Amino acid sequence: MENIENTASEKSRNILVVYYSRTGATRKAAEYITKKLGADMEEIIDMKKRSGIFGFIIGGRDALMRKETKINEIKKDPSKHDLIIVGSPLWAGNMAPAIRTYLNKYKTDIKSVAFFATSGSSNQEKIFEEAKNLLDKEPISLMGICTKELKDDSVFDAKIASFTENI
Ligand SMILES: Cc1cc2nc3c(=O)[nH]c(=O)nc-3n(C[C@H](O)[C@H](O)[C@H](O)COP(=O)(O)O)c2cc1C
Repeated sequence: MENIENTASEKSRNILVVYYSRTGATRKAAEYITKKLGADMEEIIDMKKRSGIFGFIIGGRDALMRKETKINEIKKDPSKHDLIIVGSPLWAGNMAPAIRTYLNKYKTDIKSVAFFATSGSSNQEKIFEEAKNLLDKEPISLMGICTKELKDDSVFDAKIASFTENI
């Protein structure tokens, strides 16, 4: 993996990376993007138990039914940031309930947005379309990345570079 270089033209660009991660894949991308852009970061915690096989099954069902969940209290005010970069894993073809909850709760505070999503193998387009409609905002950049690509440093670096190019 390349040495992460802060490519943000000015630190004064006020960017917040918001993500939810159950098993670390989305966190890996979020941390990398945060460092590269010199951004702030907010991890969203799902207060509902999502571990184990039941957590998986109920998580998939909740995502499929487009349910919201209870999330932690946020620490970073999205309205104080110029751009919010939102990362979610794909669950049963949908965004994770924790991210749906965050977007619904703070949509009026989000001035500009970019999305990324991680998945086992499926296409992530559906999340992007839904998040765009939910916020009623055209994202300035999108990135979908699957497990195999996350483990391949050259693909990972290239995807992040392309995602952050216009940010
Ligand atoms: C409840 C649940 C449902 C999932 N559904 C899908 C799916 O429909 N398609 C897919 O490619 N991956 C699916 N996955 C795999 C995750 O999207 C993938 O492993 C993701 O990178 C996990 O991110 P995380 O480690 O940040 O939690 C699912 C995972 C979980 C836990």
